[in-house]
Amino acid sequence: MKTLILYSTRDGQTREIAAHLGAELQASGLECDVLNLHDKVSIVWAEYDRVVIGASIRYGHFHRSVNLFIQQHLQQLNNVPSAFFSVNLVARKAEKNTPETNSYTRKFLLNSPWRPDCCAVFAGALRYPRYGWLDKFMIRLIMKMTDGETDTSKEVVYTDWQQVSLFATKIARLSNKQQS
Ligand SMILES: Cc1cc2nc3c(=O)[nH]c(=O)nc-3n(C[C@H](O)[C@H](O)[C@H](O)COP(=O)(O)O)c2cc1C
Repeated sequence: MKTLILYSTRDGQTREIAAHLGAELQASGLECDVLNLHDKVSIVWAEYDRVVIGASIRYGHFHRSVNLFIQQHLQQLNNVPSAFFSVNLVARKAEKNTPETNSYTRKFLLNSPWRPDCCAVFAGALRYPRYGWLDKFMIRLIMKMTDGETDTSKEVVYTDWQQVSLFATKIARLSNKQQS
């Protein structure tokens, strides 16, 4: 049996976090598939005994495909041990990086019919040079209002990789708990 890690990304940071989780789980002896949720691959659910979904925030929302996927596969998701992580820039602040204190994640969990067994919130990346002019302008405005980086020549990765590794340990334990 394997772990399925699905990610929803726009700029690649959630994919990197999913890959890091996959590598950590594999290093601990668990087989993993890391797939893009937007690729519409047909999933052979019988191959998986754990599922992880990770998604990033844009202008206050996860991509609508995330909720659509959850609705379409709710039974399978609720039948196996599962985990959810969200990625956003608000989470660069220590007081906003837990599922309870990060408003996007709290709202998502409140409204979702899926009940993941463990959740995490990771700070994402700020990559000004890769954004179009409007996104660059808007993100700079938000960063200015929240005392963040405003130098548009910069790319800053806020992700705490140790926190990601810790989450991998929790996912691995989750599966052991279910098997014991
Ligand atoms: C156009 C745009 C809008 C964003 N909106 C938000 C937001 O509303 N709140 C937030 O905390 N982060 C926001 N972010 C930051 C992203 O969540 C962050 O860059 C994350 O790393 C993106 O993940 P991805 O690369 O997997 O798409 C935004 C970023 C972009 C480019």
